[in-house]
Amino acid sequence: MADLSAVAVACANIAFIKYWGNRDSRLRIPVNGSISMNLDGLFTQTRVTFRPEHEVDVLNLNRQIIGGKALERVSTILDLVRAQARLPLFAEVVSENNFPTGAGIASSAAAFAALSLAATCAAGLNVSEAELSRLARRGSGSAARSIPGGFVEWQAGESDLDSYAFSIAPPAYWDLVDLVVIVQADEKQVGSSEGHALAWASPLQEARVQDAPRRLNICRKAVLERDFDALAGVVEQDSNLMHAVMMTSNPPLFYWEPASLSVMKLIPQWRESGLAVCYTLDAGPNVHVICQADAAVEAQNRLEAIPGVKKILKASPGGAARIVKDVHPWPAQANE
Ligand code: DP6
Repeated sequence: MADLSAVAVACANIAFIKYWGNRDSRLRIPVNGSISMNLDGLFTQTRVTFRPEHEVDVLNLNRQIIGGKALERVSTILDLVRAQARLPLFAEVVSENNFPTGAGIASSAAAFAALSLAATCAAGLNVSEAELSRLARRGSGSAARSIPGGFVEWQAGESDLDSYAFSIAPPAYWDLVDLVVIVQADEKQVGSSEGHALAWASPLQEARVQDAPRRLNICRKAVLERDFDALAGVVEQDSNLMHAVMMTSNPPLFYWEPASLSVMKLIPQWRESGLAVCYTLDAGPNVHVICQADAAVEAQNRLEAIPGVKKILKASPGGAARIVKDVHPWPAQANE
């Protein structure tokens, strides 16, 4: 029998235009499209091995055997792959992030992108990038965007078939840097999947969704024209809109910490005075400060001086999910 094993790596990504709310939560068809940048050096590495001797799927995540909901989510992807490949075997999944858990980096994006690629390859399937993105989406919506490389758009679509992500520009197109400003390293209280379900409880969600095509157009154009000021305005507005929805859901979700707000208030002032920086926050208190590469050192120095800032990770635009020959040991901690 052929070796039914493969190893894949995939980057995390940061959304410039956010995904918040599903029109179909089982299939993870989002209510609006989103645009993101892959984060080079912040990876998940996953090995999938289908084995005749296994009686269940086994998940080894960051060197711990995990069951429950996390394993169920992994098995959902494996079931789809098994059905397509007509492969009646359970699998062992060994997955490791090279970035700290709870660092404000959506580990599920990198994790389900790497899992989808490794599982299809191990099962001997030949799938297109769009098919892989659709598969990763079933595990975690934002994972659809960690399949293609560089700057990526996920078209919302209306069904499983047309909801997938594609690259709008390669990583080298624009040398932006994401400074991930960690103000709290604890795990978040309310995860994204629960948050998506609460979005419609906010009267602001409809307005946010209605206006999304405008923001997507501005963001796409800003990336293609490398227009930092245009990007900064729309990225900050989109993040604020999503957090306004979160704060007005039922129950309300308040993800910011005092230090998050300190950073958010300073960044536009720094931009006014000529430093090319803007902020965006996902479902957590840590602030992603997006900057032009030539502003990154100055921005990092200023950020380190803000009380409450614990640590800063740094990432450039990252590439597509890819198959690697073998599992590589990670350096102790990435991108500090
Ligand atoms: C705030 O992709 O983590 O980071 O599909 O339930 O796994 P699930 O949600 P997830 O949601 C990401 C939400 C976000 C915004 C974004 O990345 O677009």
